Amino acid sequence: MIISEKELKPKLGSRTALPFWDDEHISKEMLKCHLSFENDLASRKLETIQKTVESIIKETALKPGAKVLDLGCGPGLYTEEFAKRGFQVTGIDFSKRSIAYAKESADKNKLSIRYDYQDYLNLDFDNEFDLIIMIYLDYGALTDDERSILNPKIVKALKDKAYFIFDVYSGEHFKNSKNTSSMDEFPQGGFWSEKPYSLIKENFLYPEALADLTRYKVFQNDRVKTYHIWNYSFSLEALRDAFLPWGKVNKINFKLSTDSKIEETFFVSFLKEL
Ligand SMILES: C[S@@+](CC[C@H](N)C(=O)[O-])C[C@H]1O[C@@H](n2cnc3c(N)ncnc32)[C@H](O)[C@@H]1O
Repeated sequence: MIISEKELKPKLGSRTALPFWDDEHISKEMLKCHLSFENDLASRKLETIQKTVESIIKETALKPGAKVLDLGCGPGLYTEEFAKRGFQVTGIDFSKRSIAYAKESADKNKLSIRYDYQDYLNLDFDNEFDLIIMIYLDYGALTDDERSILNPKIVKALKDKAYFIFDVYSGEHFKNSKNTSSMDEFPQGGFWSEKPYSLIKENFLYPEALADLTRYKVFQNDRVKTYHIWNYSFSLEALRDAFLPWGKVNKINFKLSTDSKIEETFFVSFLKEL
């Protein structure tokens, strides 16, 4: 039987039905990655996070008391830094485990932060925030359709003359991406399951969309679970087009650190101006 490339390569923007961020085991492993500050696997290093928060405050000239929303706040590493500096902060995430950790940590550190366990694609605020952030390349992990849902919701949630600040992969990242395939055995279990499994990891390129997909196939007891992790890269022009009706988009040159992915990424500010 001949299998064509079309059949092997998933459709651009396709998702599988399995939970990822909120999976019982994966979310446990993910939280460990968020909290391990020696690496920048799931969150950046604490020093970079603190520099990012200082740089955002400088960029936006916001004063303590202003209202900040963190989309995909994870365990609350950015929310706490903003709260410590006197901002009124809300964090949204749909990992139950991360939200539970974030709430406990805020209590322990005597910080008043609102946390909502919610899919940010269902965001429903109106004219509420002076600043919305979405950090660690989450914007580009969304598909085109998901971004078309989220963008107007973000705009609606911002006050006039308020900012949405986020980071994305640049075209440089896409240029360095390759079609790859590898297989590994995990006899003691690992990131994808606590029980033994085999893993096929493949990377597919979609030059027409500056996107790449990492597909993980987890084989266990005659069952296979498939996960799709998308990474879209962006030009500034494409982001300007996406937010054109609602305000201005600019690249911001934060000098943050030398952490591994930062060279291929850039920060963007959207200023709502109706
Ligand atoms: C790469 S992590 C970054 C976390 C945090 N911004 C940081 O840098 O420490 C992405 C986070 O977004 C959350 N997330 C992904 N999709 C989401 C969605 N649709 N709604 C709410 N949270 C989401 C995940 O649960 C995860 O905590």
